[in-house]
Amino acid sequence: MLNNKVALITGAAQGIGFAISESFAQQGADVVLTDYNPEVTTAAEGLNNKYDGKITGLVMNVMDTKSIQDVFDKVIADYGKLDYAVNNAGGGVLKPFAELTDEDFDSTINLDLRGTFLCMRTEIQAFLKQDYGSIVNAGALGSIYNPGGMGAYNAAKNGIMGMTQAAAVDYADKNIRVNCVAPGLTKTPLNDGGFLDKILPTVPMKRYETADEVAKVYVFVASEATFMTGQTILSDGGVSVGLK
Ligand SMILES: NC(=O)c1ccc[n+]([C@@H]2O[C@H](COP(=O)([O-])OP(=O)(O)OC[C@H]3O[C@@H](n4cnc5c(N)ncnc54)[C@H](O)[C@@H]3O)[C@@H](O)[C@H]2O)c1
Repeated sequence: MLNNKVALITGAAQGIGFAISESFAQQGADVVLTDYNPEVTTAAEGLNNKYDGKITGLVMNVMDTKSIQDVFDKVIADYGKLDYAVNNAGGGVLKPFAELTDEDFDSTINLDLRGTFLCMRTEIQAFLKQDYGSIVNAGALGSIYNPGGMGAYNAAKNGIMGMTQAAAVDYADKNIRVNCVAPGLTKTPLNDGGFLDKILPTVPMKRYETADEVAKVYVFVASEATFMTGQTILSDGGVSVGLK
């Protein structure tokens, strides 16, 4: 159980981020849901009514350094510490490479790669002050394996794997772990468009991952995998090991 532990999740108003938040709450943790969508406060209230931990929702834009710093200052003031940070906010423009505009590329890199960097930097600064902490970033199956049409997204998510390794090495002797979870095909509002339906037949397990399934992986890596750092863990129904 994670009683008296504090977890912060980005992009937590819906989808996988909300499921990660609920998974921490189920284990008894105090949870801070953050999102640039103000609906995050309603999402947090729902969890707060259901679970014992202190659960709040705060508006935070992962592309805005000041917004991130303000939220972290508030969390440390209100909760006294932070044990786990999950940098889940992400998304991106999926198009064949030659069709990607400058704006498509920049917006994807800014949200996924730069947004994760800005959060990681603030988290590590906070963790150094308290001498411990655990970060889990959101990669993607598309960090490594391409169904096509993922030039910008793949660049960003692959970059997140690299930043995970770099920061893990920098702070391994400071009691700060940094890992990455790469979800497989997961039905969320992100992929309402049916893009994933075309890829599903290539998944050996022949079904979508649920947000709850991958959420448990995030919580395990954040809280239980205490000798693991710098890793990217794929939860992908077998895609990375073969075709069937
Ligand atoms: N769904 C999948 O199949 C899948 C697969 C692999 C990886 N992922 C990754 O998992 C993460 C979550 O995906 P999801 O499917 O739950 O997506 P989603 O679109 O359902 O949720 C993303 C959340 O991030 C928030 N967000 C977007 N921009 C933000 C910003 N600038 N600041 C703060 N919050 C912001 C959104 O408001 C939303 O609540 C993403 O990083 C995504 O790339 C998803």
